[in-house]
Amino acid sequence: MRIIVHHATCQGHARCWAQAPDIFKLDDEGYILPGDINVAEGDELLASRGAQACPERALEIDRT
Ligand code: F3S
Repeated sequence: MRIIVHHATCQGHARCWAQAPDIFKLDDEGYILPGDINVAEGDELLASRGAQACPERALEIDRT
């Protein structure tokens, strides 16, 4: 599973980080770091919760 990060859409709400700080890394201003995230086995549920918590829909879940 992978999280596609739409970096330009991030508004710095940090709700992803609040759900899973080890998966969603933020910069000093609270914006998600650019680059897609490869989710380790076992972290899928946490990653999904974090992605779904984003009110801007900046985090897209890719299960392919
Ligand atoms: Fe950005 Fe959404 Fe997270 S706005 S910091 S990707 S909750």
